[in-house]
This record gives sequence, structure tokens and C-alpha cells, in this order.
Amino acid sequence: MGKLVVFYSLEGNTEYIADKICEKIGCDKLKLIPKKAYKDKGFAKFLWGGKSAVMAEAPELEPYDIDLDKIDEVIIGFPVWASTITPPIRTFVNENKDKLTGKRICVFACQSGNGAPKAMDKLRELLGIDAFAADAVFIDPKARPSEENENRLIEFTDKL
Ligand SMILES: Cc1cc2nc3c(=O)[nH]c(=O)nc-3n(C[C@H](O)[C@H](O)[C@H](O)COP(=O)(O)O)c2cc1C
Repeated sequence: MGKLVVFYSLEGNTEYIADKICEKIGCDKLKLIPKKAYKDKGFAKFLWGGKSAVMAEAPELEPYDIDLDKIDEVIIGFPVWASTITPPIRTFVNENKDKLTGKRICVFACQSGNGAPKAMDKLRELLGIDAFAADAVFIDPKARPSEENENRLIEFTDKL
């Protein structure tokens, strides 16, 4: 049985952490790609991404190939958008809810300010679980590297 990091990342911060986790614990990595890409520049980035998050959209994803029957721990990573989860994560959970049931579920979020606890609560509700086996929050870890982020990463990966 294996471990999987599944994540969405618009600007690379979440992917940076996903890569570090995989380097350290050796796991499968699944990057979710929405069929219609979110804008990654200027005001449009916040407008369309924020609206999509607030409306709790579940955008269609590019096909992905992962056998969840072979996975016993799933680590979900996302950037916080408007204090909630990024929409591609909702699509993934909706598409795989049955197979995720009973697995060890861990979570990490990247944000620039706040909102991660609220977003993690949303994800917990969506998954229908009481708690995550491990969780961590990073502050723009690629754009703004810090000792705090690196320490959190060490603590988090130790629990995976
Ligand atoms: C549409 C949008 C909404 C955001 N909303 C929040 C927010 O509510 N709280 C916060 O701290 N950061 C917010 N951010 C910042 C990102 O969560 C943060 O920069 C994160 O590290 C980006 O991860 P990524 O590079 O993997 O996309 C938002 C960014 C975008 C594009």
C-alpha cells in the first residue's frame, strides 16, 4: 500500500510543498489540472478564482490516472482561496468519495494571510470525517521562503 499527495496549485507554492513531501517520504503525486485554467495574473486571478471558490464550484478536471485501491494514505494540498478550498479539490473529492472513505487523510494548505482553518473545516465536511490524521499550514512557501515554513514541513512529514 502506498501514499499519495494530491494537490492543486496555481502559482507553485502548493506544488513546492508537494514535491518536498514526495522527496522525503517517497509517494505518488497527482497534480489536479482543471480543463479550463484559472487566470494566474492580475485582478482577473483574484476575481475569477475568488468567485469560483465562493460559489463552491467543482470544475471539470483533465483526466487523471490513479488507483486509489493501492493507496492507504492520501495527503491533500491546496492554496486557500477566499478562506476556503480551491475548487479542483472539491471535484476530486466528489469523484472519489467512496474510495477515500476509511483511508488515512492528511492535509496541508498554502496561504498568504489567513483562512486555512476555515478551509480545512470545509474539506473535512466535504469528506465526511471528524479530523485529519495530520495537518499543516504554510505561508507562500515558494514565494516567501522562511525557517518557519521549513520547520513546519519537517514536523508535518514526520507525521505522514
Ligand atoms: C483567488 C485567490 C484567492 C485567495 N484567497 C486567499 C485567502 O482567503 N487567504 C489567504 O491567506 N490567501 C489567499 N490567497 C493567496 C494564496 O492562497 C497563496 O498565495 C498560496 O500560497 C498560493 O498557492 P499556489 O502558489 O499553490 O497557487 C488567494 C489567492 C488567490 C489566487
